[in-house]
Amino acid sequence: MADKNDTMEKLVSLSKRRGFVFPGSEIYGGLANSWDLGPLGAQLSKNLKDDWWKTFVETRQDMVGIDGSIIMNPKVWEASGHVATFHDPLVEDVKTHKRYRADHLLEEALGIEAGGMSLEELGKIIKEKGVKSPDGNELTAPKNFSGMFQTTIGPIQEEGNVVYLRPETAQAIFVNFKNVLETSRKRLPFGIAQIGKAFRNEITPGNFIFRVLEFEQMEVEYFVEEDEWKPIFEEWAIFMEAWAKKIGLDLEKVSRLEVTGKELAHYSKRTIDFEFDFPFGRKELWGLAYRTNHDLSAHMEHSKQSLEYVDPNDQSRKIVPHVIEPSLGVGRTMLALMLSAYTEEEVGDDSRVVMKFPYHLAPYKIAVLPLSKKDELVEPSQKIVDELTNHWNVEFDVTQSIGKRYRRQDEIGTPFCVTVDFDTLEDGAVTVRDRDTMEQERIKIEELVKYFESKLN
Ligand code: GAP
Repeated sequence: MADKNDTMEKLVSLSKRRGFVFPGSEIYGGLANSWDLGPLGAQLSKNLKDDWWKTFVETRQDMVGIDGSIIMNPKVWEASGHVATFHDPLVEDVKTHKRYRADHLLEEALGIEAGGMSLEELGKIIKEKGVKSPDGNELTAPKNFSGMFQTTIGPIQEEGNVVYLRPETAQAIFVNFKNVLETSRKRLPFGIAQIGKAFRNEITPGNFIFRVLEFEQMEVEYFVEEDEWKPIFEEWAIFMEAWAKKIGLDLEKVSRLEVTGKELAHYSKRTIDFEFDFPFGRKELWGLAYRTNHDLSAHMEHSKQSLEYVDPNDQSRKIVPHVIEPSLGVGRTMLALMLSAYTEEEVGDDSRVVMKFPYHLAPYKIAVLPLSKKDELVEPSQKIVDELTNHWNVEFDVTQSIGKRYRRQDEIGTPFCVTVDFDTLEDGAVTVRDRDTMEQERIKIEELVKYFESKLN
């Protein structure tokens, strides 16, 4: 069985070997904490996002989606409070020059909750308690480190206008609130969803794709009347847990953490972190926050535009809606999904690794494997592939022994393998192998589509 400590190592290696995740810019020696999705990772991530969009947007009458810009007017980030507050306290080891989050170091060294402490408070405790870096060296005084990446618009950097790469997708939703309200004509309660890239200059990125500088978020801003936020918040918590189940996360490893005190973000009155037991510890997977009407009010004040909602039952009543925000990271979800799917099994004297993805998320649904490379088997196999690809994502693999090809399909989580052998030429049937049970059955070629419809749809 997989040991907790080496599971990550095995997963990183499988990801590279099979084409889920590659180190970023590898031929130039890489770029720390940047990762690229390979053919299987791109498909898995797309399947995950498609399922999220279907579940959170398309199947709900109270939801619509948008796709906003990554680079927005910098006033957005002044209004949202990010320019003033989106930074972390950084300390540096004076000898190794490694950088650390001061609050995290204190939490680890002294077991105290240091999140949200001022630079002065952190510096004072570090001095008084003699806190050293993990390498045992002195630390610099804490200073703020902005979490936002800056760039400039214009041909000459010095003269250009400073803009930011968005650190969350949420703000594009708030900024478009009025446009969406007017065009979709939704009534409260309703939500706006978005999937897109976000960027953070993290001090301590790491743990493979868990904490990176560039990542995708799937976010909802759900607008409500102030007095109805509590039950709706709970409904969203249950909705998110139901999705965790639907995408096959190991529910034993998912738990809720009520975020309290200084750990609460500047905009939030209540936040639940959904945590996952990763091999490197219990860490935040997703967040659910009650952001009050902080964002819409701030954008009203800064833009001087009305973002009010007129009560359709009483036109004289105007309110600034409150908001509940389910916020999920794509990469982090993919990591939890891969860890949940990763299975090692003994098969006789041998062992196999199987990625037990739910069928609807597996990158390939079916692999077609002719037993030999001879044309007499390859040609009918190709015809089967042509027919099945009208319905599902299918892989065609003719190389290596059939045993090795089964192992490869197990490792990439393909639910079914179709083997075309010499008997096929006689009886017009193929062998279908089930990924999880490894049971095999003989199915007529003309019945294959119906057979897979009953299994996969
Ligand atoms: N709009 C609210 C917001 O952005 P957050 O808790 O900072 O809240 C939401 O981020 C989710 O985005 C996290 O729960 C996580 O899944 C993902 N996420 C945040 N920072 C990340 C990073 N550096 N790398 C990968 N995923 C990240």
